[in-house]
Amino acid sequence: MTIKPEKPDRYGLIGYPVAHSLSPQIHHAFAQQTQQNLTYQLLETLPPDLAATLRQFQQQGGKGLNVTAPYKQDVIPHLDRLTERAAQAQAVNTITFAADGERVGDNTDGVGLIRDLRSHQIELEGKNILILGAGGAVSGLLPSLLQEAPQQLTITNRTLNKAQALVNKFSVYSSKISLSTTPFGCISDKNYDLIINAVSGTLDTEFLQALNLQYPCFFYELRYNQLTSFLKFAKAQCQPYTNGLGMLIQQAAESFYSWRKVWPDLSRLTHCGENRAESG
Ligand code: ATR
Repeated sequence: MTIKPEKPDRYGLIGYPVAHSLSPQIHHAFAQQTQQNLTYQLLETLPPDLAATLRQFQQQGGKGLNVTAPYKQDVIPHLDRLTERAAQAQAVNTITFAADGERVGDNTDGVGLIRDLRSHQIELEGKNILILGAGGAVSGLLPSLLQEAPQQLTITNRTLNKAQALVNKFSVYSSKISLSTTPFGCISDKNYDLIINAVSGTLDTEFLQALNLQYPCFFYELRYNQLTSFLKFAKAQCQPYTNGLGMLIQQAAESFYSWRKVWPDLSRLTHCGENRAESG
């Protein structure tokens, strides 16, 4: 009698575009390291196909998905339940398809960012943070940032009312934290411990120069696949900086744990784009 090998459990990433993503490499490395029998595929999905792609993946036995732009908010109406952290963020980057068919949305981005900051010896309690941008990524990260009890968190954005909407939405979590907005680039306090770039377009060097920041200041770029003008600027100013590769790996580890109940050892992670990690 021959014993058939068990079929691997299926996971993946849904978004548009996703071809550039390092997530399959990361999750396959985690699986190999922890001897988990799984596959992780890219599901490049156009907006009108979101519901059908989710349904099809689940019907074919899919166990879980990561969610990336532009669906972190749009996917919520397609889920049965959110974890507390996903409900607070109003953004989902991880879906679990339970055995009874329930679709549970979670958010591991926030914890991923905080853990990566810690790995750079950045603790946020009592600190002064500036965020550039007020899009979906910021909305998803704000609850975790506020939970760390910084003294002050300022959001500056090209479209000011989007920054203001975030402050209105999240001030409920932060009675002791000064959470405010300022017109794009017009900061009065120059003394930030951490500046996070969540702008998806390119920032001019002149814009960064004109902020006239006092140093030292840690520069954190959320993107992980480009040497952005923000990172070049930090480097030129001899300030500590990093891109978002560490956060990507940390959020993936948290998703992996929630699916498989086993922790990958991040110190053993190789071949997953570390050549692209930009920090200094
Ligand atoms: P994400 O999911 O990555 O947050 P998003 O929700 O589209 O993407 O948000 C992109 C952010 O980058 C927004 O804050 C956007 O500013 P607006 O709210 O004014 O649109 C900002 N952004 C994009 N391109 C920009 C540019 N060239 N200059 C300044 N801000 C820019």
